[in-house]
Formats: sequence, structure tokens, C-alpha cells
Amino acid sequence: MTTQVINTEHQAENGCRLGAKLIQAGELVAFPTETVYGLGANGLDSDAVNKLYEAKGRPADNPLILHVSKKSDVKQLWYDVPQRAKQLMDAFWPGPLTLIYQKSDIVPYKTTAGLNTVAVRMPDHKTALTLIRACGLPIAAPSANISGRPSPTTAAHVLEDMNGRIPLILDGGPCRVGLESTVLNLASKVPTILRPGGVTHEMLSNIIGDVEIAKSVLSPVEEAESVASPGMKYKHYAPDAQVIVVTGDILEGAKRISRMYNIARVQGKSCAILTTAQTKSYFKGKITLEIGDMNKPETLCANLFSAFRQLSGKVDIIFTQSLPTDNEGLAYMNRLLRAAGFETVKA
Ligand code: TXA
Ligand code: MG
Repeated sequence: MTTQVINTEHQAENGCRLGAKLIQAGELVAFPTETVYGLGANGLDSDAVNKLYEAKGRPADNPLILHVSKKSDVKQLWYDVPQRAKQLMDAFWPGPLTLIYQKSDIVPYKTTAGLNTVAVRMPDHKTALTLIRACGLPIAAPSANISGRPSPTTAAHVLEDMNGRIPLILDGGPCRVGLESTVLNLASKVPTILRPGGVTHEMLSNIIGDVEIAKSVLSPVEEAESVASPGMKYKHYAPDAQVIVVTGDILEGAKRISRMYNIARVQGKSCAILTTAQTKSYFKGKITLEIGDMNKPETLCANLFSAFRQLSGKVDIIFTQSLPTDNEGLAYMNRLLRAAGFETVKA
């Protein structure tokens, strides 16, 4: 199969019309959202959803998110719409927040991987919304990467993974947020963040009060938890390189990284350091990639996956430093720690 790429940055209509035709016919189409690129299929069609799992090599027990183009679409997908969901949709949709609640009968178990709940979100991206509207269907869309690789934040990343596997990629330019949406479970007694993202714990608590953070967000998932949060048990977001995260004081951490870098070089290993506006000056003469400003964690989020892809397979070790886990720092550290297999080095 040849994979066509259509730019939708300036004119979304034509590409989306073709995309909608393909999705209605049970095919797969990759499209941009504000978080990462998604690989879309008709979310109400088990056969189409099956193709998604195949194209990504995704484990069959990991459920999908349904993407809608307006808030009222949740009515047909959920058993009912709880008050908390209404408040959150009003505050954050369209935007990087996925809500999980009891599914209705029209949602196939293939989409929810056998669960009685379904995840829904309304993306904040013109191409995505135009495509969903043109389909007239909820679009099931996991991130458009091969399972286990970093999520794609440009159409070129999608092509790297999906060339020859899908008929169409809609290219809407680089994704603004860069990490996947916040996943909030509203089917549990206390709403629980299963995956942190651009809509932060602080923002959610502001609207609905008590919100828990699943333990698996910052530590390896335990067997008992994997039922509520199937996506968290897989090694995710990992580049083809060892990732070493140094925690603690910034200056001490930079010194520690420099020492480890020099030792690794003597051992014949190739290394790179992910740096920030605050730390780049500590690493003169070393191979570095600056990914943002530590005082604006959203800039680091936006560039992390792209940096992973750039260095994947090119170096043996990627060194970087941790961020505090408040606000967007929680999403950033969730992805970084998973890429590092949850091992950190104290400065
Ligand atoms: O930003 C995003 O959410 C992107 C874009 C394309 O919208 N999509 C995305 O999908 O990241 P995916 O499939 O890569 O991640 C979906 C996550 C997985 O961790 C999955 O386990 C979880 O959501 N999930 C989906 N439905 C669930 C459910 N019913 N219960 C618990 N977790 C669920
Ligand atoms: Mg994914």
C-alpha cells in the first residue's frame, strides 16, 4: 500500500473529505491533534478497530480513545453524562483531556478492549475536528506510532512508523502540546488521573475538587492496578537508547551528568544530553540537544518525543535532568521515567 500525505495546514477541507471517505469505508487515516498525531478508524466498527491494533502492533487488551467533534456526542457513547463530566467538558473541551465513563451499547468491546467503560475526548485542532465532523462518526485513535515507540508529533514521524501500512496521513504541522492527553477516570469513586497531560492535576482539582493520581503515574504499574489502567503496564515512549535521569539540585546534577558522560565516552559509548535554557552552559564541548525552558515545563513537553526520535538509534545513552512534578512537570516526568524504566540517579 502506498501512503499518501496531504497537507491540511492552510486548507483542511479537501484532505479531510478524502480522510472521512476512507474512515467511513473502514480504512485507517493518521491525523494531527494538539497533543500528538492519532491513527484514526471508525470507532463503532470492530473490523476497522482491529486494523488499528494490527497496524500499530498494539496489545489487544489496551483500550482506545474515541474522538468527537462536539460535547453533546458523549451522550450516545456513555451510559449517562455525570455532572462532573459536564463541568470538565465546559472547562477544558476542546483540549487535551480524555474522560472515561461507563459505555453505552453502541460502543463495541473491541474499542474498549473488553472494558465496560469508554474513553472520549474532543481534540483542539482544526484538522481533527473537520475530519471527525466530515465522518459523522466517533473516531477511535491511538497515537500513530508503532506500539512502544515515542508518539509522533509531526507527519514525518508518522511516516517513519506507518509508511506502507496506511493509505493516508493528514499533515497539520507539528503538535502544540507534544505529549498525549490527560486521561481521567470518572468511573471510579474519586476521579483518578491514569495518565497526566496538558490539562494538569491542579487545573482539574480547581473545577471538581478531589482528584487522585494513580500510583502508576510515577512508579511501575503493579498487577492489581493494570486492570484500571491497562495502558500503563507497557513500556512506552522509549527511544532506542538508554535514558538516564538525574534528580536533585540542578548544578550538582549537571556535574554528575558530565562525569557519567566522560566515563561512558572512555568506555566507547556515544552519548547525548537533553539540556534546557538553564543547563546548556554546563555542557560545553559535549553533544547536547536543547529542548526548552525549565521555568516553562510545557516547552519541554512539546519537544521531548521529537528529541527522543531524533536521538533514537543514534546514541547509546541519553542523559537528562528531572523536573518538579507539579503542573505540566507531572506529565513530563511520567514520560521521562517510563522511558528510563523508572531508574534515576541522585545528583
Ligand atoms: O492525546 C491523546 O490522547 C492521543 C491523541 C491521538 O488523541 N491518543 C492517545 O491514545 O494517546 P493511546 O491509545 O496511545 O492512549 C490511550 C490511553 C492508553 O493508556 C489506554 O490504556 C487508556 O488511554 N485508556 C483508554 N480507554 C480506557 C479505559 N476505558 N479505561 C482505562 N484506560 C483507558
Ligand atoms: Mg500511545
